Amino acid sequence: MEKDNQLFEKKKIGVYTVFSAREVYETLKIEPINIILCEYHLPKIKTSTFLKKIKTIKPDVELVFLSEGATLSNAIDAMKDGAYDFYEIPVKPRLLATVIEKAIEKQLLFLEKIELEKKVRGMFNFEDIHGRSKPMQYVINLISSIAQKNTNVLITGETGTGKEMVAKSIHYNSPRASKPFIKVNCGAFNEGVLESEIFGHEKGAFTGAIIKRVGRFELADEGTIFLDEIGDMTLSTQIKLLRVLQEKEFERVGGNETIKVNIRVLAATNQDLNKLIEEKKFRQDLYYRLNIVHIEVPPLRDRKDDIPLLVSHFINNFNEEKEYAIKGINKNAMQILLNYTWPGNVRELENAVEAAMALAPGHVIEAKYLPSFLLLSQPQHADFYQIPQHFTLQEAEKEIIRFTLEKTKGNKSKAARLLGIGLRTLQRKVLCA
Ligand SMILES: Nc1ncnc2c1ncn2[C@@H]1O[C@H](COP(=O)(O)OP(=O)(O)OP(=O)(O)O)[C@@H](O)[C@H]1O
Ligand SMILES: [Mg+2]
Repeated sequence: MEKDNQLFEKKKIGVYTVFSAREVYETLKIEPINIILCEYHLPKIKTSTFLKKIKTIKPDVELVFLSEGATLSNAIDAMKDGAYDFYEIPVKPRLLATVIEKAIEKQLLFLEKIELEKKVRGMFNFEDIHGRSKPMQYVINLISSIAQKNTNVLITGETGTGKEMVAKSIHYNSPRASKPFIKVNCGAFNEGVLESEIFGHEKGAFTGAIIKRVGRFELADEGTIFLDEIGDMTLSTQIKLLRVLQEKEFERVGGNETIKVNIRVLAATNQDLNKLIEEKKFRQDLYYRLNIVHIEVPPLRDRKDDIPLLVSHFINNFNEEKEYAIKGINKNAMQILLNYTWPGNVRELENAVEAAMALAPGHVIEAKYLPSFLLLSQPQHADFYQIPQHFTLQEAEKEIIRFTLEKTKGNKSKAARLLGIGLRTLQRKVLCA
């Protein structure tokens, strides 16, 4: 295995090993995967379903099936379903490496074609970023004016505002679009692991470093590296990062060989870096290097005009992904979405739409299918009761009666009718209150 890995490394091919279809889907979503090598007879899932699903997640990924004792008709079926190639096990690593290189070449041609088409049309393809509000138009214009330039960009904004989406759209609208976009979540690893993730390590660099590892900076060569949650990086890793930014070279952990890279750096955080600088938790010189251009993604509460557009975008997405048949959302439900302040921003809205779509039995999202936190948080003047969680049933009843009487301007007969109880019952309850 190590020998095979060495061969792949020599050819600068990073390898991820997973053990289930679900892991393949998850990895595809977050890692820069070009090729999947996979056993033809998968347990628990039909090969055609598997192929369809991975093509939905990443249309340009290529799949090579390997199989022991497969028939010619299996191979023909797989190719018809869109597999790139099919090999009988055992297969020589050298042959595999060549197949992989060929598949990557095919992808690059595909990406170059798209790039060319975009240039011919003379426009950027920003359709994935939904937002017609003024603040989002400003962000989109800023992206389009800097994407083609080779500057580093710092993207800030609250959680769930779309920072990663902005980073991707910068990369995919830059001359580096056909080269890798590599993400590192700086908050997800402790210091040692993060350094080996970023810079790679040599065999034997530390206990457990059984084989040499190519780091993400190397994988991102000629492309873009996206340093997410940069505010979580420790000071000692910040110094090493600063050197790469200044000198464009580094060594793998435990190694002497100097590796030169040509990389564009995008960084993101939801923390206040100026405050971290004041607290001496973030280096000012690194901040200046990263913050050549600053993009602040506004919170959703400051661009509520975008909510209807985002909702219909998410409805389309989930209809496709989960095979739902929702046609829209009614006025009441939309008003509730517009009234809410969305502390979790676009991601929270996306989750709310998904939850409502799962519950709605018909073709329309109605208010009652929205998550309960949205219904409870509505302002008093809307058509909803506001009942704090700690209320007892009796207190809640009192609140509902009070609210209804307020609405009927004290008219008890009308209130009783609205509440679905008799006038006498209502009078008794008011007396007891
Ligand atoms: N303008 C937008 N149009 C369409 N989808 C969006 C938009 N903004 C964000 N999203 C969606 O919202 C979700 C959150 O976006 P993203 O991951 O880019 O946010 P983030 O700012 O990086 O969040 P965090 O700080 O939590 O990492 C994603 O599913 C993304 O596709
Ligand atoms: Mg993010």
